[in-house]
Amino acid sequence: MTHATTARYNLLGLDGVPAGELAALLDEADGFVAAAASRETSDLLAGRVIANLFFEDSTRTRCSFTVAAYRLGATTVDLTGKGSSLSKGETLLDTALNLEAMGVDALVVRSPRSGTPHLVADAVTCPVINAGDGRHEHPTQGLLDILTLRRRWGDIAGRTVVIVGDIANSRVARSNLHGLTTLGANVVLVGPPALVPVSFMKITAGPGRVSIEHDLDKTLANADAVMMLRIQLERHGTDGGGSIPPDYRRRYGLTADRAASLPPEVLIMHPGPMNRGVEIDASVADDPDRSVILEQVTNGVAVRMAVLKRAVSCQPIAEN
Ligand code: CP
Repeated sequence: MTHATTARYNLLGLDGVPAGELAALLDEADGFVAAAASRETSDLLAGRVIANLFFEDSTRTRCSFTVAAYRLGATTVDLTGKGSSLSKGETLLDTALNLEAMGVDALVVRSPRSGTPHLVADAVTCPVINAGDGRHEHPTQGLLDILTLRRRWGDIAGRTVVIVGDIANSRVARSNLHGLTTLGANVVLVGPPALVPVSFMKITAGPGRVSIEHDLDKTLANADAVMMLRIQLERHGTDGGGSIPPDYRRRYGLTADRAASLPPEVLIMHPGPMNRGVEIDASVADDPDRSVILEQVTNGVAVRMAVLKRAVSCQPIAEN
């Protein structure tokens, strides 16, 4: 059995992806939005197999890759930490190599550890797509967020996106920072000082600017979109413990009162999973006029269709 060793397309992060390539991916994803929304299927990837390796819980990303593969005519195999031979001491790399030996056409990898998809990509020859690695990156989430904004605004250059919450532990914030600033949007990072590292100011690919603010109310008048993030307690400390600061909702939550002060055209975003009543009030999350949270989810299928098509189309069908 032979495998392509050239022209492999991995998507491991948005860091370093040039503006032209981002725009091309977003254009391709845009073309899939109608299919994703209308449940249309095609045979673009008929006969291909996508392996979902999810070693951390997921609702949106895992199901979205599965739906995207289905819409393209491909099938999926799913592996999680539970129920696989990882529990018998097999390593993650051996797991990936075994799936590749079965002839899967791409590996979609989620891990609580930053860098895992990169290690897998070094070990296998098939395409690898990062579905979220630790605090590092979540590139398809970044792309679907940017696609959602681009479809609303036409062009994101010069717009201001306020990202609020646990920035330090957020791979979503990192991927958005890379993608948004590369395409010329400005990003304001907001949260308690301990959750917004100054080093994030350096995560800019330009021409977009990055700034840090600790007073949410100061930022909202200039926002074009507000992206609320969950506090990721599972990444706070070694035992996954910790708790939400008692005044967090008052200071950093997008409460109904705070949302009422926003200009009406400001878009409200959240990558999910949401903690209603903590970082965002239920009435704000469900606001039919301003919340694009479920639109993000629909656009996520389109983004994953575009990424899978690109990754798998670069792979010739294995020959015996
Ligand atoms: N946004 C996101 O990654 O959600 P899941 O953890 O449910 O995949």
